[in-house]
Amino acid sequence: MKILVVGGGGREHAIIRKLRENPEAETIYALPGNGGIARDAQCVNIAATDVDGIVRFAVEHQVDYAVVAPDDPLVLGCVDALEAAGVPCFGPRANAAVIEGSKVFSKNLMKKYGIPTAAYETFDDLSRALRYLETAPVPIVVKADGLALGKGVIIAQTREEARQAVTGMMRDGRFGKSGEKVVIEEFLTGPEVSVLAFTDGETVKPMVSSMDHKRAGNNDTGLNTGGMGTIAPNPYYTQDVAERCMREIFLPTIRAMKAEGRPFRGCLYFGLMITGDGPKVIEYNCRFGDPETQVVLPLLKSDLLTVMRSVTEGTLKDTPVTVNNGCAACVIMASRGYPAHYEKGFEITVPEDVWPSVYAAGVQEKDGKLFTSGGRVLGVTAVRDTLKEAVGASYAMVRRIHFDNAYCRSDIGARALRAEEKE
Ligand code: AMP
Ligand code: GLY
Repeated sequence: MKILVVGGGGREHAIIRKLRENPEAETIYALPGNGGIARDAQCVNIAATDVDGIVRFAVEHQVDYAVVAPDDPLVLGCVDALEAAGVPCFGPRANAAVIEGSKVFSKNLMKKYGIPTAAYETFDDLSRALRYLETAPVPIVVKADGLALGKGVIIAQTREEARQAVTGMMRDGRFGKSGEKVVIEEFLTGPEVSVLAFTDGETVKPMVSSMDHKRAGNNDTGLNTGGMGTIAPNPYYTQDVAERCMREIFLPTIRAMKAEGRPFRGCLYFGLMITGDGPKVIEYNCRFGDPETQVVLPLLKSDLLTVMRSVTEGTLKDTPVTVNNGCAACVIMASRGYPAHYEKGFEITVPEDVWPSVYAAGVQEKDGKLFTSGGRVLGVTAVRDTLKEAVGASYAMVRRIHFDNAYCRSDIGARALRAEEKE
């Protein structure tokens, strides 16, 4: 079988490694992939947003199955275009990817179908938004409607900060078209849990829960990033919480999308907060999370290709999704300065025995050597019986990897370990 994976980060590397476990996956193309992924797949220099180029390549190379991993091509309709060309795909069509592509859409969906989430108002008019803020309680959360590389969410501690956020988005075009509309919502507190779930539009089967570490600095300080590390399972996601989430959030969401004529087929990411009032949805993503995937897939016992194809064919109900016991930790090695300014082009050395635990993100290959080419460079994942062992093993590998200006948080998993101790 010839498989095409759209994307080129650590998440795509984790997907490709897992797909390769199935001997049917003879050839895997990564579009565009990266210098590290090139060790596990054939990388082709076609951008993940070049939908026409992707379709042309798939048809020319008689690709049997495609996996579209990143948000942009999904929202742009890459799955629709591949399907129209006769290529079976994993991933939602554009009319379902809108669940991530528009926060106004997803908030209105939750309101209409009674799915628990933060109370909110939506605005497409600056003066109305500013008037609303005059009496709104603070802290308050301002969100750009569209995709904004995870940076379109501002937690305003004061009314003045909220006014600046809204004005920056709606008047000054800070996030381009993504910020023309905004959601202003209630500030919630509680531990956050990410749950990635397979769904074919009828059945929903979650994988192991995880915890992201979004801020750049230790103890959740500094700027928001794409994610500096993850652990799985998430100790706050107890059996009781899981059952409530299935009943109050997962099934209602799948049914709501179907009722709206937008059946979601693919991996749906539930960003949840466990509040005093029960689990609530912070955000939906229409795809695997990054770096959640780098801990969730190593713990997946089922064959990924089999599960993905059952999602495409609508037979997920009859396909088991099972998870291994044990725990995983992924530490992101980034370029110092990320997510603001950083230098790139430094040579990366990874001991051969560590390589199978490494997922490449901002990595370029030149003359057989690897060099840094982005903010998040590598994800280093260990799987062990306990979370403590997994975290220790991941950091032990990190210490054996070298590139100039490497930076990682030193507290990945610390909060989860404290939560485990309290139990
Ligand atoms: P998002 O880009 O939607 O994942 O938001 C980024 C982060 O902002 C989330 O992971 C939360 O930590 C935080 N956040 C988003 N919405 C809220 C909210 N209503 N209350 C508190 N924190 C929030
Ligand atoms: N790690 C969060 C995301 O993938 O959006």
